[in-house]
Amino acid sequence: MENIASDSPVKKTEKAIRDQAIANDVLLEIVRFGIMAPSGDNVQPWRFAIGEDCITLFINRGADDSFFNVQQVASLIACGAALQNMVYMAEVKGLEATVELFPYGEGRDEVAHIHFAMSGKPQNESIEKAILNRCTNRRMFSTSQIDKGIWEKMVATTSQEADTFLLYNEEKAWRRPLAHTVYLADMVRVARQDLHEYLMKILHFKAIPKDKRGQEVVPDEFRTGMPLKNLQAGLMGDIYMRSMRKWSVMRVARYFGAGLAMPLFGAMSVVMSGGIGLVCVRSFSETTIVRAGRAIERVWCELEREGYALQPLAALPLLTLRTHLEGEAAFKPSDIKKLKKAKAIADHHLHIPADAIPVFMFRAGRSAQVTQRTYRQRTAQLLVSSEEA
Ligand SMILES: Cc1cc2nc3c(=O)[nH]c(=O)nc-3n(C[C@H](O)[C@H](O)[C@H](O)COP(=O)(O)O)c2cc1C
Repeated sequence: MENIASDSPVKKTEKAIRDQAIANDVLLEIVRFGIMAPSGDNVQPWRFAIGEDCITLFINRGADDSFFNVQQVASLIACGAALQNMVYMAEVKGLEATVELFPYGEGRDEVAHIHFAMSGKPQNESIEKAILNRCTNRRMFSTSQIDKGIWEKMVATTSQEADTFLLYNEEKAWRRPLAHTVYLADMVRVARQDLHEYLMKILHFKAIPKDKRGQEVVPDEFRTGMPLKNLQAGLMGDIYMRSMRKWSVMRVARYFGAGLAMPLFGAMSVVMSGGIGLVCVRSFSETTIVRAGRAIERVWCELEREGYALQPLAALPLLTLRTHLEGEAAFKPSDIKKLKKAKAIADHHLHIPADAIPVFMFRAGRSAQVTQRTYRQRTAQLLVSSEEA
């Protein structure tokens, strides 16, 4: 087979174009864009194998042992987002991507097999910038509403995935009750020792080292997790997070009411936004969650392209999902009460249908840029041969 990197002056027939082998460096670049996807606490729960004209995406089920990652939902969403980025980049490269989800069945680590063929001319080129610029923005946003046309575009792109849909609420009057739902879910989060310790484990409190020329030299341990400054909590927030590192301190602080700082900050950030969205699925399976992940990345990139910022608000959907999938035993009765109250408010204000399973809530709006981004593992660290994975 011919390689697309070679410049043949001969005019090719459509079939000849499709039969070209795809250069390894093109597939590598597609993987690099996959790696730019969001993941819960930036754990990057994925691996990739490059084959002839194909890439296999694997989930790393050991990457995220957080209480949030119930039945791998957070990691499957992340894999769906990585898959979407790769499909987007195929378009940019003039390739046609054929995706097979869970080729060996759910429960296996092979999430997707993507086969590429030359399709002719590059498409959707502006998406490349959106994938690279997309990030989680935890700053306060402008309260001006997001254009209804943009929401409708996001609704349409979400429902392209079977069994997946987007609900949204951009009206100002509804922000306070929705802020209350985020506050309640965050109250449950900050009261749990396991979640507190997990957050403190994935945060990097040290500054990123710089070389003599002032360039960042990113150590491997910074390539997953989040730098403290990525929380965009300001000087006081940074001091608060540093002083609450130990659970024993947080426990005492909670006794004196200082544990409310994070839930209040979360609630405030909902009020200070241009709208709230919620991605739901109609049935629960690993396949539908990966599909939801694809839809989420499309929504996120679409917002980025339109100049809007996004922050996931995962606590309510993921904790509620845990109660549905695993029962209530892992929660205190007072926490269950808070989650039910939060869910009831969300049901009402987002018109969540009774058969919907919410998986990803977010706020969006105009915002200043984040001042500290997260990093990614090196591509070589995430490449495996199919037998290794
Ligand atoms: C399933 C999932 C859940 C997430 N939950 C939250 C969340 O509750 N709050 C938040 O601020 N960020 C959340 N994030 C954002 C991640 O922390 C973020 O994607 C990761 O740190 C990488 O940073 P980036 O998005 O800026 O590239 C979530 C991301 C995913 C994929």
